Amino acid sequence: MRLMVTGGAGFIGSAVVRRAIDAGDTVLNVDKLTYAANLDNIASVADHPNYQFSQSDICDMPKMAQLITEFKPDCVMNLAAETHVDRSIDGPGAFIQTNIVGTYSLLEASREFRKSGNAPSGFRFHHISTDEVFGSLGPTGEFTEDSPYQPNSPYSAAKASSDMLARAWRETFGLDVIVTNCSNNYGPYQFPEKLIPVVIIAALEGRDIPIYGKGDNIRDWLYVEDHADALLLVARKGKSGETYNVGGRAERTNLELVKMICTVLDDELSNSPHRPHESLIKFVSDRPGHDHRYAINCDKIERELGWQPSVSVEEGMRQTVLWYLNNKEWWEAIRGKGFDVAKRQGLGQQKS
Ligand SMILES: NC(=O)c1ccc[n+]([C@@H]2O[C@H](COP(=O)([O-])OP(=O)(O)OC[C@H]3O[C@@H](n4cnc5c(N)ncnc54)[C@H](O)[C@@H]3O)[C@@H](O)[C@H]2O)c1
Repeated sequence: MRLMVTGGAGFIGSAVVRRAIDAGDTVLNVDKLTYAANLDNIASVADHPNYQFSQSDICDMPKMAQLITEFKPDCVMNLAAETHVDRSIDGPGAFIQTNIVGTYSLLEASREFRKSGNAPSGFRFHHISTDEVFGSLGPTGEFTEDSPYQPNSPYSAAKASSDMLARAWRETFGLDVIVTNCSNNYGPYQFPEKLIPVVIIAALEGRDIPIYGKGDNIRDWLYVEDHADALLLVARKGKSGETYNVGGRAERTNLELVKMICTVLDDELSNSPHRPHESLIKFVSDRPGHDHRYAINCDKIERELGWQPSVSVEEGMRQTVLWYLNNKEWWEAIRGKGFDVAKRQGLGQQKS
């Protein structure tokens, strides 16, 4: 498959790029290289003959049209996005621009490509989204593909809007569009502003481990490599016009998850002065509009495409902690570029 991946220097996109190259696909990675990108994430494939990179903004429609026309992809897989909910509270503008206008620009470039008659048969647009578009659940129930959209943060509202655009480009223009909505990912190469790396790095350094509110928010956790497998499977075999939920069947409260990480660190670092790492946990004020619970029902992708998560959250989290322990130079380099791993975002605008 000739795969154009946007956002391929980010956390999930880089996992897709690495796996696609391993699987023998030809990949064009299109990434603006924002603060969240890191070319180290794809260093292992950078010199591969089947890999190309373009530093470009998905909002630049003529550039997207040019790249698509020249590369002739079988699939445009759109992962490029602004993704940090806390940042979307401090500054929603970039989220509106990239997540909505950028998706529009890619959809239009794809539509023109299809109209030109030069697109391969089966050319499709795979839009990557999140379970956050469905809003917050009570103690029971799960999101299905038919759940209503009820986004609560600027991030999830922008993602929801882009999902709607993708749907409309199929219904109105007949573009072969697929959307996947996935739960929280974790794993190697996640930028150290997200919960899991924040916790691991704070614990390693003996700093407070911040937990929002009471730590009772529940998320469904999926190992990033399992998500990448699901995305490649959907790109190849997914049914046109469908949406698929992707999840890990691993609901945990934030507090449970943080304790799991602390236990791995206690086991691995028997001489650490910070043991038990759990003693570093500090409850901090909650995020405004913090959704209480997400749970994904992924029966459809399991039943129709035969995908299942392969790694349990306990094993995946252990591997993730070990990766951050063994790859300090990766996150030290991010800090070296001026990123403050201990700084909290998203407190700016509380509800009035
Ligand atoms: N991380 C999760 O838990 C999760 C869960 C479900 C869905 N998703 C979705 O998966 C996708 C990838 O998420 P991630 O966690 O890997 O994000 P990330 O923040 O790690 O990476 C995003 C990438 O997009 C690039 N990018 C941003 N704006 C761009 C622009 N205008 N043009 C080109 N490139 C641009 C960045 O440089 C970065 O490399 C997003 O669409 C996100 O909404 C993420």
